[in-house]
Amino acid sequence: MSAMTVNGRPVQFNLDGDTPLLWALRDAANLTGTKYGCGVGDCGACMVIVDGEALRSCLITIAEAEGRFVTTVEGLSRDRSHPVQQAMVAEQAIQCGFCTPGMVMAAAALIQKNPAPTKADIEAAVPNLCRCGVYPRLVSAIQRAGRVAQRQERISAAPAPGISAEDAARTVPAMAAPETGPATAD
Ligand code: FES
Ligand code: FES
Repeated sequence: MSAMTVNGRPVQFNLDGDTPLLWALRDAANLTGTKYGCGVGDCGACMVIVDGEALRSCLITIAEAEGRFVTTVEGLSRDRSHPVQQAMVAEQAIQCGFCTPGMVMAAAALIQKNPAPTKADIEAAVPNLCRCGVYPRLVSAIQRAGRVAQRQERISAAPAPGISAEDAARTVPAMAAPETGPATAD
């Protein structure tokens, strides 16, 4: 059993202490924004923030995360208003959805400490792998996010996702569309 705080909520995992944090988040807590890429610490798709540090959740166990504060991409902001999220959209730095959450978390941890990172700072702090070559846009986005975080620049909010709850439920069989009451007419 391992207790920690995940996205601001106390959580207790009744799992073997050797369970990777990645599995606990995805399979037990249903926080599937954190992705499983390689499972061996190479790709960065599984990055979460633990006590302010971006860590690969495939490499730490829930016993090692005991008592710590874990933030996943779901907990970064309630409305995708975090500067990194806004800048990633604005700079079109989002390619596949698999790598993006890990990049966002590594970038968020970086600009928290260093809101004016150089390209070299970014390459060191955000070593995430991307086969589609989003790196130049990613650097621009992270530097822009730093400026937004420092209130030197503003970005208007990203548009809402263009998918309804019903469509999402059709696409993902494990989901259920929310119950809706009978239609009413004016
Ligand atoms: S899944 Fe953790 S680094 Fe690739
Ligand atoms: S963002 Fe996933 S391969 Fe480039």
